[in-house]
Amino acid sequence: MAENDKKIVFSGVQPSGNLTIGNYLGAIKNFSRFSEDYKTFYCVVDLHAITVRQVPAELRKRTYETLALYMACGLDPKENTLFVQSHVPQHAELGWILDCYTMFGELSRMTQFKDKSAKNAQNINAGLFTYPALMAADILLYQTDIVPVGIDQKQHLELARDVAARFNLIYSDTFKIPEGYIPTDTMKIMSLQEPTAKMSKSDPNENAVVRILDSKDDIMRKFKRAVTDSETCVRYSEDKPGVSNLMTIYRAFTGKTFDEIEREFDGKGYGDFKLAVGEACADGLTSVRDEFARLVQDKAHLEAVMKAGAEDAYGYARRTMSKVRRKIGFVN
Ligand code: TRP
Repeated sequence: MAENDKKIVFSGVQPSGNLTIGNYLGAIKNFSRFSEDYKTFYCVVDLHAITVRQVPAELRKRTYETLALYMACGLDPKENTLFVQSHVPQHAELGWILDCYTMFGELSRMTQFKDKSAKNAQNINAGLFTYPALMAADILLYQTDIVPVGIDQKQHLELARDVAARFNLIYSDTFKIPEGYIPTDTMKIMSLQEPTAKMSKSDPNENAVVRILDSKDDIMRKFKRAVTDSETCVRYSEDKPGVSNLMTIYRAFTGKTFDEIEREFDGKGYGDFKLAVGEACADGLTSVRDEFARLVQDKAHLEAVMKAGAEDAYGYARRTMSKVRRKIGFVN
C-alpha cells in the first residue's frame, strides 16, 4: 500500500518510568502489530508528564528510557515514527486550542483527574485538569484512525472523539474521529497483593507490582508471594481474584486458554502454578530487558531516532494545524 493511503495509528506513553506488565500487556505489546499495515506514530508524552512535579534530570533520563523501551518492545524506528511530544510544538498549540472546545463539566468527570488530584492534593494544577484536551490534540493532529491504549484511557479517548466531533460540527470536517483499540483479554492486570485492585505503577508495595524491567529473580519472588486463596485449585472464577489474575497473566505470556491452564495444573498446588507463571512472565520479558539494556546505552542513536521521528511527525502536524488555523479564523 502506498504510504499515503495507510490508516494512521497513534499512541503515547508517559516518561514516568517503571512501567508494569499491565502497561505492557494492555498497550505497548500491541503497538508493533500495526507497523506493517499502518502509518504509526508512537510518542513519549513529556508535556503530559509535567502535570505532576518532576525532577528535571529524572525526566530527561526517563524520556530516553521510554524511547529505548519502545524499541525494546519491538518497534523498529524505520517502520514506526518514534518521537518526543515536546519536540513537535503543534501538540502544545493544538492543546491550547482544544482547551477552548472542551467543557469544564466534561473535564470534571474524568476519573483519572479525580484520582490524581486526590493523590497530589498540594499540586492540583490547571494542566492536570486539561490533560485530556492535550491528549485529544496528540491524537487529532495526525488524523488518527486507531488509538491502541489500555482500558484506563478509554474515558479520555471518548472525550477526544467528542471534542473532534464538536469542532467538526462548528467548522465543517477538520478532524478524523479516532477509534480505540482496547484489548479485552488482558484488559486489567490486578495487583499481586490485593487482586481486587488494579496493578498500579505507583503502588508503594513493590511485591504487588511486576515491572517490565524487573530482573528474573524479582519476578519469581513477587509471583511466589502473590496472594491467592484458601483452596488449592487452579480455576478461573470471579470469587478467586488472585488465581484468576495469575491465570490471565499466564495466558497472556503463553497463549494457552483458561481450559488448558486448568488442565495443566489439575491436581497440582499453587506453588507449582506460581512458579510457572513467574517463569513464563520472566521469559516473555527477557528479550525486552536485554534489548533495553543494550539500547539505553547508545544515547547518540536514541537522539538520532527522536530527531528523525520529530521531523517526520512535524510534517503531518503542520498540515492539520494549517487547516485548523484557517477554519478558526486566525490570520495567516
Ligand atoms: N494519557 C496516556 C496515559 O497516561 C498517555 C497519552 C498521552 C496518550 N497522549 C496520548 C495515549 C495519545 C494515547 C494517545 O497512558
